[in-house]
Amino acid sequence: MKNIAIFASGSGTNAENIIRYFEGSKAVKVAVVLSNNQKVGVHARVNKLGVPSFVFTRDEFVEATPVLDKLREYNVGFIVLAGFMNKISERLLHPYPNRIINIHPALLPKHGGKGMYGMHVHEAVVAGGDTESGITIHYINECYDEGNIIFQATCPVLPSDTPEDVAAKVHALEYKHYPSIIEKVLLSL
Ligand code: GAR
Repeated sequence: MKNIAIFASGSGTNAENIIRYFEGSKAVKVAVVLSNNQKVGVHARVNKLGVPSFVFTRDEFVEATPVLDKLREYNVGFIVLAGFMNKISERLLHPYPNRIINIHPALLPKHGGKGMYGMHVHEAVVAGGDTESGITIHYINECYDEGNIIFQATCPVLPSDTPEDVAAKVHALEYKHYPSIIEKVLLSL
């Protein structure tokens, strides 16, 4: 059994979707969810599915020791970021080489980098007059949104689309593809 951790900072709809996908799997288990925010929806969402969640401060994520202790406690060998808004520090990266992946709600290298997350990304897509957007699943390295790309999928952006419309299309792509790409990467290790 490969135990994974999900890191999430928001409502956690992707976390829930990933947990549901692996429910009953004999190969992969979402063992624990870690967050930098106690007040967000991800906790109730995953706890009701039987997955424990824990909160660490920004400094604890940077210093990494308490986070690494928790990951060891749950025997975690692979980390999935799903709407996690803290940078991953070198101290976390080092013990998990090519073992941390992220989903970005746009087609990197466009609309990536510091400050580009959630609705900010979809607003930039609409403001830029882009005709398509999509998702990018990539490895994490020391630079924001610059790790090797594993998978991309696209959706059209119509001139009449609002940022909310784009967000809905991108979320649909995330739910469709992220769990199976995680599975593929894990089973290739
Ligand atoms: C997702 O759209 C994810 O791609 C995005 O945050 C959202 C989280 O939604 N991630 C980023 O912007 C990272 N740069 P969720 O909490 O409902 O899963």
